[in-house]
Order: sequence, then structure tokens, then C-alpha cells
Amino acid sequence: MIKVTTPATSANLGPGFDCMGMAFCLYNTLQVEEIAQGVKIDNWGDQTIPQDESNLIYVTIKNFYERIGKKLPGLHFVQDDHIPMIRGLGSSAACIVSGLLAANALSGAEMTRDELLQIAAEIEGHPDNAVPAFLGGIAVGAMQNEKLYFAKLNVARLCELKFCVMVPAFTLATERARQVLPEKYTRVDAIFNISRAALLTAALTNGDFDLMKAAFDDKIHQPYRGKLIPCMESIFKEALSHGALGVFLSGAGPTLVAVTLSETRFSLPTGWTQVYLKPDMRGARVEFC
Ligand code: HSE
Repeated sequence: MIKVTTPATSANLGPGFDCMGMAFCLYNTLQVEEIAQGVKIDNWGDQTIPQDESNLIYVTIKNFYERIGKKLPGLHFVQDDHIPMIRGLGSSAACIVSGLLAANALSGAEMTRDELLQIAAEIEGHPDNAVPAFLGGIAVGAMQNEKLYFAKLNVARLCELKFCVMVPAFTLATERARQVLPEKYTRVDAIFNISRAALLTAALTNGDFDLMKAAFDDKIHQPYRGKLIPCMESIFKEALSHGALGVFLSGAGPTLVAVTLSETRFSLPTGWTQVYLKPDMRGARVEFC
């Protein structure tokens, strides 16, 4: 039996659209064993998941076996998922990362973490969830000529930062949240985001909380996605007026994150819950049971 534990992730961190992300101590676990044939999926979590061949972990494992030219065995999974689905907390990336790590261990392919990350980024189309899901912490990834370049940041004073994760009752599919983005941006907006993404990287690595106050802003995706998340702006204002260093949409949303220095409770609209999550520093891990 192989057990894979994979963290939730928050992509973009404001200005780092499609390239920056961080991992949280909130996990999906997957136990996998080979069986004679077919697929059997047990769900130990309280969310509904596909329990047939459309299951994303199964699709990923099948994809991996096709890549290495091996016959896919029968598979039995036990999934215990705690990452809320379709909420911008990297549940799809967690399935892809779990599937790749499980397939690598089951097949004996012995691919390196870098090779697996490359495949994860290819499947996802952007690396901002997969990189922190694999590495933990706050990380950045960039694709160039189909090759993934990535790094985990050495964040100073990370243990002083608190991450208030605010989750609404409604879901928002990434595909829908990408449809509302423009095809082209002005030079002014491009410069706005490039400068803030660079500033955010400097602020995090230097542990400069004053810089962070300017660095989490974005003009590439949040202003457009705000139309799909009616309370986004008022929740941002609420958190900033109570001392948050920064606020951002988690991935494609609808979850929002406030970065604070104390575990402040914010006043949120009906249906929203808030929880302070610690950063996960280890990333996804595999155990042989
Ligand atoms: N960077 C992606 C987006 C994350 O914002 O659309 C969601 O997968």
C-alpha cells in the first residue's frame, strides 16, 4: 500500500498570476494498492468525488502509465480529502500531484521530483499550484519552451505571518474564472503586476512587512474576477481596515486570503467561513505502508 499526502495550495498570491503559490497545512490523503483489475475508489472524506474512471487521480495515473509505456494495473484507492473542491485551494492540482507520486511509486519508474513536476505543470497548464504542492512553502514556477523552471523562496519571518483563509459556500470553476479575463492588457497594467510580483518576492525573502502592504495588489485577474465574487471588495476592505498586510484571491477563487500579524476575526457575509491555516513547508510526501 502506498500513501500520498498532498497539501492545499493558494495560487497567484495577488500579482503572481499563473506563477506564484503557497502550500497550506490542509491535506488530501490517498492510499493506493494494486488489485486484479478495474478501479475501486473508497471515499473517506465528506465531499462527493468521482468514483469511476473519470476520477482525476485515476486519469493522472493512467496518463503516467501511458507516458512510461507500461500496462495500467487494476487499482484500489482510499481518498480522504480535506481540501474544499472548486474553491481555489488547489484540489485539482493535489489530485494530479498525488496521482503522479502514487504512479511513480507503484510503477517503479523512479522519476525524479523535477521530472514529475514538469509533467504536473504540463497537465495543469500553469505551475502555480503544482510547484508549492510538491515543494511546500511559497514557490514560483515559469514555463519556457515547454520546460519548467521553479524555485522555493526562503521566506524570512514566515512564522510571524498568519494566513486567514475565507471560504464561501458557493463554488467557482477555474474555467469560468479564466473566461472573464481579457486577451490583452495595457502596458501600464503589465508594469503594475511585474513590479508588484518582484516587490512581493523581495518583501517575502527580506521579511519586510511594510513592502508587503504594496505588494499584494493585482490588475491582471482580480478586478475581472471580482464580478463573479460579489463580496470580494468589501471583504478585502474589512481585512485591510483591521490591519491585514495584504489580501488576495486564492487561485481563481472564490476563496480569499488575508495575510495578517495576528489571528484577527473579520466580519464576513453570511455563508463565508474563516480559518487560519499555517504554511506547509514539506510539500507532498509518499509513504510505503
Ligand atoms: N493561476 C490559476 C488562475 C490558478 O488564476 O486561473 C487556478 O488554477
